[in-house]
Amino acid sequence: MSASIRNLDDLLAEGVSGRRVLVRADLNVPLDKQTGEITDDGRIRAVLPTLGALVQAGAKVVVCSHLGRPKGAPDPQYSLRPVAGRLGELLDAPVHFATDTVGESARATVDALADGQVALLENLRFNRGETSKDDTERGAFADQLAAFGEAYVDDAFGAVHRKHASVHDVPARLPHVAGRLVLREVEVLSRLTGEPERPYVVVLGGSKVSDKLAVIEALLPTVDRLLIGGGMCFTFLKAQGHEVGTSLLEEEMVETCGNLLARADGKILLPVDVVAADAFAPDAAHDTVPADGIPSHRLGLDIGPETVAGFTAALAGAKTVFWNGPMGVFEMPAFANGTRGVAEAITKTDAFTVVGGGDSAAAVRALGLDESSFGHISTGGGASLEYLEDKTLPGIAALEN
Ligand code: 3PG
Ligand code: MG
Repeated sequence: MSASIRNLDDLLAEGVSGRRVLVRADLNVPLDKQTGEITDDGRIRAVLPTLGALVQAGAKVVVCSHLGRPKGAPDPQYSLRPVAGRLGELLDAPVHFATDTVGESARATVDALADGQVALLENLRFNRGETSKDDTERGAFADQLAAFGEAYVDDAFGAVHRKHASVHDVPARLPHVAGRLVLREVEVLSRLTGEPERPYVVVLGGSKVSDKLAVIEALLPTVDRLLIGGGMCFTFLKAQGHEVGTSLLEEEMVETCGNLLARADGKILLPVDVVAADAFAPDAAHDTVPADGIPSHRLGLDIGPETVAGFTAALAGAKTVFWNGPMGVFEMPAFANGTRGVAEAITKTDAFTVVGGGDSAAAVRALGLDESSFGHISTGGGASLEYLEDKTLPGIAALEN
């Protein structure tokens, strides 16, 4: 991280006892659609080192975060209340929850904090100002947020690529530092830029190819091999001239994918077989079929075993590996083998391995894989990709003096 960025230790050295410290965290955790329960608390645990240090030092800790993508107004399904409960369990201390973000409840909650206590404000995105493209509207919301802190800590690595009020505008209003998580993420990801140890293999999956085009462009000159699975592979298969049945397809991206393949110099590896199902359902009838033989009424929901074997061979001997995005619909056991197989292959290399992205990190834990067998599991999906694209990240730029 650039030397001009101050970090939590600098703030702690000044003394924070009795001071209100506003912490932007990324507590955007996956919730079960039926029960609303937190299905993976990795992002909550990731911010504990920063929060714990502030509590220990006697700060009045005011935490804010987004959850999901509500449209600028309160929406109960995106409430952070369950997160407050889980955060309290993990901190082993009550977390005082404000039922609004900058309103009466928030003011009262913040005012009532004693030294070493923690408050969590309701979802930032219940307010239009948070994500507004209008500087004045964002600034007005940032003013309200900034009033809750005498110092600001950004520990929301997963959101540093967003030009949002809490990420980009609040640090302009308060003394600001990078939290422990942001510091560590940037330290690790910086090892993947510049001169990574070779062979450098990148594995990309996930559903949307349009989200990944920029990073593919940016990585092609650097990587030795780029393995593509997940929902996004079908647009590439189509670009190779294969029919993909009813699989996820971004028709308007086919040509771009074709151009990328033409320029990739053989570095891009695509699936040779896929698990094709009758429907997007855990109990759907399914078979493994060649990637150039997907029946017209079926959709691919995972990469097949031959592909896993090929990807495993391509990973063997790698010295640096970055993985973003599941290889299939790992939440459904019938379509989890591809993600599991590739994840296991990554752990078997003696490479420096980085897992990027909320979904891939959740997959590692959901599949019961040993987190410690990866070099680093990033809490940022889009953020880690944009870091690797060498884009300016509004949240990091805002921390620079
Ligand atoms: C994420 O999950 O990618 C981060 O929390 C950022 O969320 P966003 O993509 O909705 O901005
Ligand atoms: Mg995202």
